[in-house]
This record gives sequence, C-alpha cells and structure tokens, in this order.
Amino acid sequence: MIQEPEPSRSEASSPEVPELEASEPEATRRAAGGSESSRANRGWWDRNADDYQVEHGTFLGDDRFVWCPEGLDEIEAELLGPMEDLKDKDVLEIGAGAAQCSRWLAAQGARPVALDLSHRQLQHALRIGADSVRLVEADATALPFADGSFDLACSAYGALPFVAEPVTVLREVHRVLRPGGRFVFSVTHPVRWAFPDEPGPEGLSVASSYFDRTPYVEQDEDGNAVYVEHHRTVGDRVRDVVAGGFRLVDLVEPEWPAWNTQEWGGWSPLRGNLIPGTAIFVCERS
Ligand SMILES: C[S@@+](CC[C@H](N)C(=O)[O-])C[C@H]1O[C@@H](n2cnc3c(N)ncnc32)[C@H](O)[C@@H]1O
Repeated sequence: MIQEPEPSRSEASSPEVPELEASEPEATRRAAGGSESSRANRGWWDRNADDYQVEHGTFLGDDRFVWCPEGLDEIEAELLGPMEDLKDKDVLEIGAGAAQCSRWLAAQGARPVALDLSHRQLQHALRIGADSVRLVEADATALPFADGSFDLACSAYGALPFVAEPVTVLREVHRVLRPGGRFVFSVTHPVRWAFPDEPGPEGLSVASSYFDRTPYVEQDEDGNAVYVEHHRTVGDRVRDVVAGGFRLVDLVEPEWPAWNTQEWGGWSPLRGNLIPGTAIFVCERS
C-alpha cells in the first residue's frame, strides 16, 4: 500500500498517468522555481516510469542497492556503514523510484521507508514486491515524518538533482535523522554539466560553462516545464551539505569498472573512462 499525501495535495497522485504532450518538448536552459520543478518532475516521472523501469530495471535489479550508472553497489561500497550494522536500523530512502535499494536494505534486516514524488514509480515498487518496505508518496522538500525518526537516510539519484532548493531537502533530512545519523546521496557529477549529454565522442568536448547554474528545462509549446534538472557546482554541493547541518565525511567519484559495458543515457564506458559521471556525498548529522 502506498501512503498518499493529504487530499489537498493529491491532485496528481491518481493512478491514472497523465497524457503525453502532443508534440516533443523543447530543451532549453532557463530559470525554474521550486513548485514549477516539482510539478514538472512529478508529471515526467509518472509518464515515464514504465519506460524507465523497462530500460533500467534489469541493471538496477529488483533488490540490489546500486548507487549510479557506473554500477557501484552498496554491498562493496558500504557507504551507509558496515552491512552487519544495518540490522534494526530505521532508514529513509528519498526519491526511491521502484524502491530497489529499500528492498535490499530490508533484506539486511533494516526497516526502510521508501519515499517518492511519483505515484507511478511507487506503483512499480508494489509490482516488484514491497511487502517489507513502507511506501510514502511525498516531496523531499517537505518530509511527512516526525523529528528524529530515522537512523540513516539515502538517495541514489533521487530528488537532489531535480529540486530547486537542495538545502531545504538537506535540512528536512537533518530534521528527521537522529543525532549522528548518516545521509548518503548520489547525483550527476557537476563537471558533466559542461559537456553535451551524449555517450559518444560528441560528449567529450566542453560545450557550456561549468559555472552556469541555469537549470536544464524541457518545456511544452506553451512554455510550461515538463522536466527540470538543477545544476550545482562541487563547491555549491559542499556548501549545501554544510548549510543543511551536516559534516561532509567523503565525496566518492566512482570510476567506470571494466565489467560495465552498458550505456545509460549520456553515461558510457567511453566517457566513464575519461570524466567522472557521478558524485556521492557521504554526510553525517552534526
Ligand atoms: C533517477 S530516479 C532514482 C530512483 C532509483 N534510485 C533508481 O535508480 O531508479 C529519480 C527519482 O526521484 C524522484 N523525485 C524527483 N524529484 C523528487 C522530489 N522532489 N521528491 C521526491 N522524489 C523525487 C523521481 O520521481 C524518481 O523516482
């Protein structure tokens, strides 16, 4: 069962998936605020969840904890701490998608809660089997939990790349974590924003300024955003973590492993061997 938001916020949470736009959206860089980003991304993930799970479900596995397209697995990385210490821990997964990571956490004896903005993504969690995971439909900028509810929090490319106000998310996570709790999150490596999002050689030449924070927006013919990603530099992300009340313990930049021959959007072995694709921030609640 998916724990849904209050009726006043549930307009887009109906099981019906919104219709696709009549024409292809236009890709641009322009300002996009918090509510516009949330609305656009909720719609995008609801419309695209089915295709996303078909395309990436096998790589993600139904109950693996994969941090990134490089394939770094929590079993080897132990970024949340030693595996044996996960037992009996309350863990919040943010932007959980189909809750694959949460299912892995449950298998280690943890009590995971998988939160996502998209109803359709959470329906995939139900399809795969979420008996051991509580599912919550909510925006990461307003977590519907009491202070100090969790021992750990994690997010594998969930929410942080998509929100206009990452510090709000970090402060919310800080609030719901218990003292000493760890928050580990992965995002697109900031340096990638300077390169075209292409897996081939055309994705190897700098095309725009790394320092340009203007969001990437796809918009319909009326100029309404239908997908938004927000860029932060490495320094911005570090400052966000500190402003959120955390101590940065590690910044992991997974290298592309020889076994991984797959492409995932603009991620590929060619690019992965030359430039970083993912940044994983390991933070502790101070
Ligand atoms: C790339 S997927 C990551 C999910 C999962 N870790 C995976 O690899 O499939 C991003 C997820 O973040 C969710 N998301 C985006 N913005 C969000 C927000 N503001 N609050 C909560 N979830 C959000 C999307 O609905 C989507 O399921």
